[in-house]
Amino acid sequence: MAADEFVLDTPDVRTFITDVRAAIADGSSPADAIERIRPRFADLLADPNWLPAVYQEAAPQSGMGGGIGQWALYRAEDGSLSLFSLVVPSGSETPVHDHLAWGLVGLYRGTQDEEIFARERGALRLSERRALGPGDFYALIPPADDIHRVRTTSAETSVSIHLLTNDTGCVWRHAYDPASGEERPFRSGYVNVDCR
Ligand SMILES: [Fe+2]
Repeated sequence: MAADEFVLDTPDVRTFITDVRAAIADGSSPADAIERIRPRFADLLADPNWLPAVYQEAAPQSGMGGGIGQWALYRAEDGSLSLFSLVVPSGSETPVHDHLAWGLVGLYRGTQDEEIFARERGALRLSERRALGPGDFYALIPPADDIHRVRTTSAETSVSIHLLTNDTGCVWRHAYDPASGEERPFRSGYVNVDCR
């Protein structure tokens, strides 16, 4: 734990990560760990005070495009856990992408539409579309429902909070052309920290 990187080094974030670590250690599976983390994650999304304004700002030069800012808040030294905010300006959308790790994703501010895709014989098929508002969150346990894109539908910027069991901004994952299903290597990076 000593070498973990608390980019946002506050008692709130340290306590949250300690609780998440305990849930992962005690959980019998990702699904079980997620159940244990749920109440803490809901509290985080409901608390208006823990996330400074700088981590809720768009980023014109981001790896996601569209002014979308991915702000690292915490990363485990060994790449086994990360907490970050994803800031999507009004009307902007992410590329279709995957995550390659299990965890929880929830909306902190604004509203989003999410489109989830399934892979079928190399093509992508839209399998589900859902609207998210502040406090809504979902669990990701790949490979199920791991490919999606999100678009901000509110006039204000949307801010979502991601807790995932990899260093999501720095791992090589995939972006997809939804029409052809073609995939390409994708590394989003973070606005505020370098990849090691
Ligand atoms: Fe995503």
